[in-house]
Amino acid sequence: MRAWLNGQLLDDPAGATLSVTDHGFTVGDGVFESIKTLHGEPFALTRHLARLARSASGLGLETPDEAEVRRGVAEVLAGTDDPLGRLRITYTAGPAPMGSGRGDGPATLAVAYSALAPMGASAAVRTVPWPRNERGAITGLKTTSYAENVIALAHASKRGASEAIFANTVGNLCEGTGSNVFYVVDGELRTPTLASGCLAGVTRALVLEWSGGVEVDEQMGEVAERMSEAFLVSTTRDVQAISRWDDRELPAPGPVTDECARTWARREAEHRDP
Ligand SMILES: Cc1ncc(COP(=O)(O)O)c(C=O)c1O
Repeated sequence: MRAWLNGQLLDDPAGATLSVTDHGFTVGDGVFESIKTLHGEPFALTRHLARLARSASGLGLETPDEAEVRRGVAEVLAGTDDPLGRLRITYTAGPAPMGSGRGDGPATLAVAYSALAPMGASAAVRTVPWPRNERGAITGLKTTSYAENVIALAHASKRGASEAIFANTVGNLCEGTGSNVFYVVDGELRTPTLASGCLAGVTRALVLEWSGGVEVDEQMGEVAERMSEAFLVSTTRDVQAISRWDDRELPAPGPVTDECARTWARREAEHRDP
């Protein structure tokens, strides 16, 4: 693990000091990005930094200084050459009074990095009983308030799955705890619209750009009944076939998933910052 905090590369990442009143720590008043690295180079950094800025302004935080974030990323990655790694950028409101009211900062900016083991080629997923709120104040923002995802993932994991799938409050398919979902009906590639409340995933956008697909909102039950194959997409999963969705076994990969995964691998090798 390598880490950088508020302008400084840390000798001992475990010894970093954050204020106990940091509003990110006390109430989840912060935003973050997870970024894949390939041989020490970030993938799609510009898209991730744009989303970091969007998430920050969605929370009413000042936009982070992009040059400073890029400096943190470069310092953390200097000299690393792992085939696969993960950067985590966290930006919070900083020190604040002990309540929901925000203080005057200054904001906290941290960049951490560690090597990453490749994900498996397929995953089992489990629908969870709690809805994603598509109309909430933080919908679509990548905030550090991720406890709902923690609970959902633990629920799925206890039932033998490695990702949890949410429907939204009107029962439409939404997303995973850290992934977007694509599925195939009658040969057509589909994914929920952003109005479903899902995060505007960087991987989702690139798959739509590179492989096509229709954005549509459909009831979870209808998706489950009609899909012939499905896959997860995210920064750490890329295109990952779903082998089991609740009690339904699926081909993993199905033909459309296989094609999307191949396209992903080819395009990713061509562009580091698409
Ligand atoms: C809730 C949620 N949905 C979707 C995604 C996938 O987004 P990306 O492709 O940008 O990693 C993530 C990423 O971690 C996420 O946290």
